[in-house]
Amino acid sequence: MSFKTVEQATARLNRSELAVPGSQPKLFAKAAASEADIVFLDLEDAVAPDDKVAARANVIRALNEIDWGKKAISVRINGLDTPYMYRDVVDVVEQAGARLDLVMIPKAGTAADIYAVDMLLTQIEAAKAIKKRIGIEIIIETALGMQNVHDIAASSPRNEALHFGVADYAASTRARTTNIGGLNPDYAMLSDADAAGARSNHPGDVWHYALARVVVAARANGLRPLDGPFGDFSDAPGYRAAARRAAALGCEGKWAIHPSQIALANQIMSPSEDEIVRARRILDAMAAAMREGKGAVALDGRLIDIASIRQAEALVKKAALAGR
Ligand code: GLV
Ligand code: MG
Repeated sequence: MSFKTVEQATARLNRSELAVPGSQPKLFAKAAASEADIVFLDLEDAVAPDDKVAARANVIRALNEIDWGKKAISVRINGLDTPYMYRDVVDVVEQAGARLDLVMIPKAGTAADIYAVDMLLTQIEAAKAIKKRIGIEIIIETALGMQNVHDIAASSPRNEALHFGVADYAASTRARTTNIGGLNPDYAMLSDADAAGARSNHPGDVWHYALARVVVAARANGLRPLDGPFGDFSDAPGYRAAARRAAALGCEGKWAIHPSQIALANQIMSPSEDEIVRARRILDAMAAAMREGKGAVALDGRLIDIASIRQAEALVKKAALAGR
């Protein structure tokens, strides 16, 4: 292992993250009552320019008046290149900072973008005597943000999560795509001909590199990696497949842009019963080996390596957060 210790960000259950437009207050109560682990109230791209001011007021009222229970609540502010962003931070945090858990920064391009928001949050928390530290979640969704993803991940002790924003990322990189978060049939391998001359087409995951990069930057800095939106909410199998790919790469959660996607994310991003049982058995075996002064841990006649023990610890912690 390296001599450097990776500090883990505040642990939160974040299997699902429900996007709710700040301009649609009639959706707020349903979001509060939903099974989403985290809700983000959006002031950015789901809100038209003419509705920005009213949406900000709705969000402030919602933070102060709605009972969000144990949910973590985030607000997606506008980008740092807009004339809305400073007031999103100042008004929302000054007037409703006590109930705000996270600020989501979209289209982050450089570490200095995070520094700027951190500076504002720090001043407002001090001026308003807000006791808890508000966390930051960051969307990587531009070519510049992807280029600087490691610096961005390390930019502030407030950082908790990196999200891959596939829709804007596709636009920024000019990727040819039609279906947000879905596959592109052009991104496929055509096999060489077999003995009978037959060739077969193998669809590839056009987002693999980008999502894998976000996962590495997040994990190297103790943050949660999250996969962003899947646009076609009538396609549950497509959502499930995308969520499984993200989980396989190491993501802890995925966005829900529609309430029907919450249960899918919670299910796929939760460890299965079998995984939990096996992880507990690994930890029990480790505890027994320590008690008996043995250097090596064995289970079912096989040696368990240290990486498997760490994975088991992380899995049991995640299961406990999910109340299992
Ligand atoms: C999310 O904001 C995205 O652009 O995918
Ligand atoms: Mg976006």
